[in-house]
Amino acid sequence: MIKNETPSSTIEQKVGEEVIQGLTQTQKTLPAKYLYDARGSELFEQICDLPEYYPTRTEAAILRQYAPEIVQITGVCELVELGSGSSTKTRLLLDAYQNLGQSGKYVPIDVSESILQSSALQLQKDYPNLQIEAFVGTYEQALAQFQPTSFPARMIFFLGSSIGNFTPQECDRFLQQVTTVLAPGDYFLIGLDLQKPQPILEAAYNDAQGVTAAFNLNILSHLNWRFQGNFDLNLFTHQAIYNQANAQIEMHLYSQASHSVSLNDLNLDISFQAGESILTEISRKFDLETIQAQLAAKGLNTVRIWTDEQQWFGLILCQA
Ligand code: TRP
Repeated sequence: MIKNETPSSTIEQKVGEEVIQGLTQTQKTLPAKYLYDARGSELFEQICDLPEYYPTRTEAAILRQYAPEIVQITGVCELVELGSGSSTKTRLLLDAYQNLGQSGKYVPIDVSESILQSSALQLQKDYPNLQIEAFVGTYEQALAQFQPTSFPARMIFFLGSSIGNFTPQECDRFLQQVTTVLAPGDYFLIGLDLQKPQPILEAAYNDAQGVTAAFNLNILSHLNWRFQGNFDLNLFTHQAIYNQANAQIEMHLYSQASHSVSLNDLNLDISFQAGESILTEISRKFDLETIQAQLAAKGLNTVRIWTDEQQWFGLILCQA
């Protein structure tokens, strides 16, 4: 049921290179996918339930209300989810598709094998007629392996405003890849966190219980086990800052002391000054008109937009 990316030495090499590249820049950065090992995915599930973290529950409310409309528009299709995690919100869509009375297909994709394994097993129990074909790997690896579908249409969906975790250039490349996989008439459903006052945004990424801090710091534990590293998590503190000019939250890990760290498998020694940070992730906040124009430039035309009453979160359904 679970397919794995074929690990080749070139891919492994590339993986390490991204880390080396990120940590040797003036503003140190790390690829955000390293946030999601087994522990990271667990912590992210806890983030989704935090009182300050409004995106998950706002998006879920929109899906709960409009899933029947989405299904009515698309009809039966093969459902492909990028970054499926626990697939909790997906159930709102699966329930609506089930009402069509035809057995469908769901392809969850995630970099964290453990969460994919457990959620796919549970889904198969709860939706016995659903054909589930899970894929462990990055978005790029997943998108590169799609063949034409035997279903009337395919819908790729990308929830949780994860598209906001790409830089504008990465976003452009990603949308290009999505377009390449979609045949004319296929759908792309995307969840977008919208621009709103800074205090609300900063609270969502600096929660009072410190779950987000633990999640962000866990990226260093992940590097420690994956690359034989010796990051001391006690020497870093989490802080998220809203960069108004770029409309993006920036997640940092600040080094509390001048020290150095080694990643043995990468033959890498990095030194940190006190107060220096690693930028682990950005989370861009969107304006619906601007993103619609960007989607349209890739041949993805808006079919419908749904938002909540406060206009905090948006869902765009587009068609290739
Ligand atoms: N896609 C999520 C978002 O942009 C990821 C996220 C939530 C995240 N909280 C975080 C990433 C904290 C790093 C640190 O909202």
